[in-house]
Parts: sequence; C-alpha cells; structure tokens
Amino acid sequence: MDSQRIRQPELAGKLMSADEAATFFHNGMTIGMSGFTRAGDAKAMPRALAERAKHEELRFTVITGASLGNGSDGLMAEAGLLARRLPFQVDATLRGKINAGEVMFIDQHLSETAEQLRSGTPSSIDIAVIEAAAITENGIVPTMSVGNSASFVEQARQIVIELNTSVPLALEGLHDIYLPAERPARGPIPLTSPQQRIGRATIPFDPAKVIAIVLTETPDSPSSVLPPDEETNAIARHVIGFLEGEVEAKRLPHTLAPLQAGIGTIANAVLHGLVVSPFRNLTMYSEVLQDSAIELLDSGQLAFASASSITLSSAKYEHFINNLDKYRDKLVLRPQEISNHPELVRRLGIIGLNTALEFDIYGNVNSTHVGGTHMMNGIGGSGDFARNGQISIFVSKSVAKGGAVSSVVPMVTHVDHSEHDVDVLVTEWGLADLRGLAPRERAVKVIEHCCHPDYRPQLRDYFERACRAGGHTPHLLGEAFSWHQHYAQHQTMRLR
Ligand code: COA
Repeated sequence: MDSQRIRQPELAGKLMSADEAATFFHNGMTIGMSGFTRAGDAKAMPRALAERAKHEELRFTVITGASLGNGSDGLMAEAGLLARRLPFQVDATLRGKINAGEVMFIDQHLSETAEQLRSGTPSSIDIAVIEAAAITENGIVPTMSVGNSASFVEQARQIVIELNTSVPLALEGLHDIYLPAERPARGPIPLTSPQQRIGRATIPFDPAKVIAIVLTETPDSPSSVLPPDEETNAIARHVIGFLEGEVEAKRLPHTLAPLQAGIGTIANAVLHGLVVSPFRNLTMYSEVLQDSAIELLDSGQLAFASASSITLSSAKYEHFINNLDKYRDKLVLRPQEISNHPELVRRLGIIGLNTALEFDIYGNVNSTHVGGTHMMNGIGGSGDFARNGQISIFVSKSVAKGGAVSSVVPMVTHVDHSEHDVDVLVTEWGLADLRGLAPRERAVKVIEHCCHPDYRPQLRDYFERACRAGGHTPHLLGEAFSWHQHYAQHQTMRLR
C-alpha cells in the first residue's frame, strides 16, 4: 500500500476485505454512502453487502449524494437490501422496485438531505461508507464527487473508507469542504463568487470512528449521455439566442451569470452548443459537470466551474485525468449542500438549465413522474436552482416515444416546478419567455412556440374551449388528462 494513500499509519491496521467489513453492518441500519451522479461512489461495499443480503435478512435505509454507478443500486435493490432509498437514483432495476412499491423512495431536493439529517430525519446515520483518494494527516480526500460525504462522516457513528487506488492522488486540493453551522446560530455562508474557496481541502474525521478501510480499483461508471442530435442542437440555438437577447437588452453582462446545467443528454447537449456561441469568460455554479463543461473549459469560453461532482465519458475522463494540472485552478468540488444552496443560488444569480419530461400550457413542469405515477429518476437539484435562480430555463424535446407522446400537454400529471418557478420553456420548435406574463398569455406562447406542430391544433382547441369556460388559469378538468388517458389506451396522445 502506497504510504501516500494512508498518511495516518495507525489506520493501516484497519485494512480488510469488503466481505470482512460487511460483517459490521446489521439489519435495520441507516447507511450514508458517497456517490453523486455516478461519480465518487463506493464500489466494493455495495457489492459485498448485496452478496450478504442474498443469504440473510439485511435491509437498510441507504442515503447517498445522488445516483450511484457500477450497477450498485440495481445490485442492492435486486438483493432486497434497500428498504428505503434517498434522495436520487437513475437505475432501471431500482426504478422498477420503486414503482412496484417494494422500495420506499424519498425524492428530495438535493440541497436538503444534509439539512434534514442534521435534524434527525429520516434517522441518524449508523455507518458512513465513503470513497477516498487518500487519508491525509488532516482528513479524507474525496474522489470525483463530494456529495453528502462530509455530512455523513460528521454525523455517522462509524465510518468505512473505500480507498480507490485507480484515482490519482493529484485530485488532492480539488475539493472545498464547508458545512453550514447548526441552526439557529448560523451566519451567512461566506461565498460570493463561484471561484471562491471557503473551506478546507479534506473532510475532517475522527479516526476512532473508522472501523474498516477497504481497497478498490474500480473506476467510476462512464457517463451514459448520448451525443447531441438535430433536436438538441435546435434547443441549444434557441437558448443561445435567448441569452444573446438578454445581453443586448442589458439584463445580463457579456459573461452572463453563473450557469447551472442539469443531468442528462439534453442539458449536456445544450451546454455543448455554447462552444459555438459568442460568449467568453463564463462561469458555472452547478451540481454536476458533464463532458460539455470540459469542452467549454478547453475552448477557453468557461473560465471557472464549481460543482459537487464530475461525471464524464471514458474518453473525457482520460483526458481530464491526464491534464489535471491544466484544470486545477479552474475547478472546485463542494458538498452538495453548498453547490445547491438556495442562499447561494439566489445571491450568485444563477441561470438554471434543467430538463422536463413534460410541461403544460401555463408553465408547470414535471421532471420526474411518467404518466403522473411512475418515477423516472427524481427531482435532483433542479428545484434548488429553478426556485432560487435568476432565470430558470426548462428544456425538453417536444415529443417522446417516436412522436406518440407530446411533452407539451394541457396539464402536467405531476408538478415538480410550479409555474411560479419557471421563466423560460424551450423545445426544438422554439422558446417561450414566460416572464411577466399572465396564465392566458403564457399559454399562447407555449402552444405557438414550443408544441410540436402535430399537436398544436388539439392544444389550441383545448385552450380555446377552456377560455370560454372562464377562469384566471382556464382548464377543463374533465379533459385535462385526456391526452395521457388516450396514450394509456391507444399508445398515442393524438386524439384523432
Ligand atoms: N413521457 C414519457 N416518457 C418521456 C417523456 C414523456 N413526456 N419525455 C421523455 N421521456 C422519456 C424518454 O423517452 C427517455 O426514455 P428512454 O430512456 O426509455 O428512451 C427518457 O424519458 C429520458 O429522456 P431523454 O429525452 O433521453 O432526456 P434526458 O436524458 O435529458 O433525461 C430527464 C430527461 C427529465 C429524465 C432527466 O433530465 C432527469 O431525470 N431530470 C430530473 C432531475 C434533474 O433535473 N436534475 C437536475 C439537476 S442534476
């Protein structure tokens, strides 16, 4: 073992296999695991625990930063290990168990998990399982994400550290660990620009709480986002045109405002589109950096990026690791409580860019529930940024499932972001700037600018008849979900 990986020699005696470490875990425990958007997740322990759960009664509440990689959520769900899971996931097997009612999933704003844990909700943490690049004299060096790891380490009764030897030690110094003080005596969080460091480079910990150190060399799962396509390029052009208009109108400076971009193919593609935009000296204050952020750093357009995790494709990961010195003074990774904190999102004036599954004529957004009932991934950090940012943009392709589903509907079947938090809606057909508009004005913009032409006539028809029935926000309640019902029965939202 490289002595640089464990710089507290007395802890070397805690080295053991993941299977041995798994024996410290007991049925009914609450586990806090590192991992955020499939980056920096513990790899060996979920596998070892899932293996144990195949042969004995072992059910946990598992709390993470966000999604795990390496199929860990699927393995744990399949083994019946997950009684309760929060705050976010992207795994198909786990999604199935959630939607079958077998795993109790708590879909939570990502900035709030640590805060709720501080007040003991849903329970205190028994064991923290944290991936690390090294254990220094001062603390734990996280890997490609910080997520909720610092809070788990602070609050857990015991700690298991997974040292990942495939991660370069050069990651040391990339992180900025700061946790807000306890309420009610908490002061303002002293961060006034994305570049600022307000904490320390490592996660402080009590060595007496460490019960095991486990080695792994499994890398993070590569990002699974798809490359930009015709539609996402069109969405990117609309967003860039809008931002140019904001600069022209002097509502934004040439450097815009710190950008946040959500997970997934569409948000990544939109950010990628900025590479051919006229903007320079941009900053990001986001929760995850995808390939597009590295491209913007490389093109020189992005001057600095702050986030809680870095999730890259294999090729971009290699490039990033091989050029770490080039990025060192342009990046910082923070706890998700800080990357997503409402106080900071409002202070910095973030431009939030997130993805909708569907949105309605008045601007309500559903990011999570297919057909109003079935969980896709979770709200993630989108609500943290949408509610508190300077401009909240939601993007979506206008249709899904080969055109059988319209993403622009009379009424969303589940509301994650209400019309009060949504400023701009964008599809490949156009952009609706809803700021300063009343519901009836909003509806016209959404129908004419965002809806796919195939669905426009039936959406106009719905809105006109709803207006005749009256109201500030006109609706025909008996018909509001008729498109979804039609899809369930006939596999298309086309009414005729
Ligand atoms: N009804 C049913 N399914 C829909 C749909 C709709 N209106 N719109 C999209 N989908 C399906 C797509 O068909 C696709 O399914 P598939 O994987 O079976 O092909 C899936 O949703 C993903 O859609 P895609 O168009 O590929 O977009 P994406 O990869 O950009 O993901 C979200 C979109 C909304 C699922 C994703 O952004 C998300 O989970 N957002 C919530 C969390 C969040 O915003 N976090 C931001 C801060 S990190």
